[in-house]
Amino acid sequence: MKIIAKCTAIASVQVDTLVIGVFSDDVQGDVTGDAELNRVCSSVVAARDFCGGPGESALLYVEGAGITRLLLVGLGDRKDWSVSVLRRSVSDTVVALKQYKTKKLAVSVSSFVEQEVGSGEVARTVVETTTLGFYTFSTLSDSVKKYGLPRELIFVCREKSDIKEIRSAGKVGQIIANATNFARDLQNTPGNMLTPAKLARQARTLAKEARLECKVLNEREILAAKMGGVLAVAKGSKEPPRFIILQYKSGKRNAQKIALVGKGVTFDSGGISIKPGDRMEEMKFDMSGAAAVLGAIKAVSELSLPVDVVALVPAVENLPDANALKPGDVITARSGKTIEVINTDAEGRIILADALTYARKFKPDVVIDLATLTGACVIALGHHATGLMGTDQGIMDALREAGEQSGERVWQLPLWQDYFDDIKGDYADIKNSGGRAGGTITAAAFLGQFTRDMPWAHLDIAGTAWINKAKGCQETGGTGVGVRLLTQLLLNRVQRKGSKS
Ligand code: BES
Ligand code: MN
Ligand code: ZN
Repeated sequence: MKIIAKCTAIASVQVDTLVIGVFSDDVQGDVTGDAELNRVCSSVVAARDFCGGPGESALLYVEGAGITRLLLVGLGDRKDWSVSVLRRSVSDTVVALKQYKTKKLAVSVSSFVEQEVGSGEVARTVVETTTLGFYTFSTLSDSVKKYGLPRELIFVCREKSDIKEIRSAGKVGQIIANATNFARDLQNTPGNMLTPAKLARQARTLAKEARLECKVLNEREILAAKMGGVLAVAKGSKEPPRFIILQYKSGKRNAQKIALVGKGVTFDSGGISIKPGDRMEEMKFDMSGAAAVLGAIKAVSELSLPVDVVALVPAVENLPDANALKPGDVITARSGKTIEVINTDAEGRIILADALTYARKFKPDVVIDLATLTGACVIALGHHATGLMGTDQGIMDALREAGEQSGERVWQLPLWQDYFDDIKGDYADIKNSGGRAGGTITAAAFLGQFTRDMPWAHLDIAGTAWINKAKGCQETGGTGVGVRLLTQLLLNRVQRKGSKS
C-alpha cells in the first residue's frame, strides 16, 4: 500500500472510496466540509439513518465527481474523542471497507482531528488498522477469502505543514503493522509446519532481511550451554530444541540495551501431564511470545531506533513419549538451581528460566519476557488485557502507558514475597507449579528466581495472543500481541531520552 499525503480540496480527489469522519455535533450542519458532498449526504442525514454516533457508518455513491463511494464514519461527540475512540472508529471503517474492492482510498485527515488526536495519530492509526484489518492467513487454502489491501492510500489534509508528519507517522504505522502481521503468520502456522528448527530458520531469514545478527544454538550447543530446562522439556519430542539469538545493534554509543525473551513452545500437549483434548489444537499458539519478540526486533530495525535489542527464544515442542520428562523429576537449570517438576504442562517457565539466565550475558538495562504462560491469566483478565508482573516499577509503568497508546493494554498483578514462598521446593530449590491459586503470579515468581538483579518485567499473553472469533476488523487467529506494545515502549524511550538531552 502506497501512502500519499496531499493538501487539496477534499472533493477533488480521484478515488474509489473517500472516507470522512463525522462527529455527532456536526451532523446537522456542515457534514463533510464540502458543499457538493453535503448534498450527497443530505438524504441519509434527513432520514436520521446516520447521526454521527460511534459505530455508525453510511456508504453513499457520488455521481459526477471523481469519487465513486463516500463512506461516512460516525465519531460520536467531540468531547469524548480520544486515541482509543479513534482506533475503534477506524476499525469500523475497515470492516466497511473490506466489503468493497478499493484500489484507491482517500481519507480526510482533518475530519478526524480533535483534542489530543493530531494528524500524525490519525495517519498512523489508519495505516496500522487497515494493514492489520485486511490481513488473512490464507497460505494453506485457496478457499479462504482474501481481502485486497488498497494499492494507494491518500491522506488529504488542510495544512501544507501537516504533510511531513502524516508521511512519517504513516510509515511508522506501516512498519509496525507489517511486523505484527509477520508475527501473526508465525503464530497461525500449524505445529507440524513450524517446528523449533523451522522457527529458527524463519529467524535466520528475518535476520537477513532486517539486517540483524543471528545465532542459533542446536541441541549439542544447548547442552554445552547447560540449559538443563530447555533440554528436559524437549526430551519428549522427536523434534530437537533450538535456542535463537537475534541482535539489533543501533551503532549508537551509550545506547540502552533491551533484552526481549519470548516463549517458543511450537506445540504444547502438556507432556506426560497431558492436556484435555478439547481445544488442544490452540496450543500451536504457544510460541506467541517468540513471534512477538521476532516481530518487535524487526520493527525496531526497520525504524532504525537508537537502542540495542537482543531477542532470545528457547524453542521446543512439549510432547509425551517414552523419553519424556515426568512429574517428580528434578532437573538442573543453567543457573545451577534445581527444579522439581510437579507438572510437565508448566513447561514454559522451565525453558524461560534458562533463557532469562542466558540474557545476563548481554548485561541488559532491561529484560522483558513475553509468554502464553498460564491459563489462569485468561481467567483473571479475559482476552482484553495482558498480565504484567515484574521487579522494576519504572518499566512496568512505561509498559502500561505504551499499552494505552498502542491499544495493547496490560494490567499489573502483585508479585509479593508470599508468592515466592508458594513455589519453594520439597525435593529441589523450587517447584514448577504452586497449584491453582494465584497461578499467573506464582508462574511469574518462578521466573523471578532467574532474573536476579536484572530490571525485569514479565508479560503473560495467554489471553491476548489469539482470538477464536473475529473481533472488529481482526480475523480469527493470532493477534501478534506484543509487537505494537514493545515497539511503542521503545519509541517512547528514545523520544523521551532525545527530548531531555
Ligand atoms: N501454554 C499453557 C498456558 C495456556 C493455557 C495458554 C491456555 C493459553 C491458554 C502453559 O504451558 C500451561 O499449560 N500452563 C499450565 C500451568 C499449570 C500446569 C501450573 C496451566 O495454565 O494450566
Ligand atoms: Mn503447558
Ligand atoms: Zn505452554
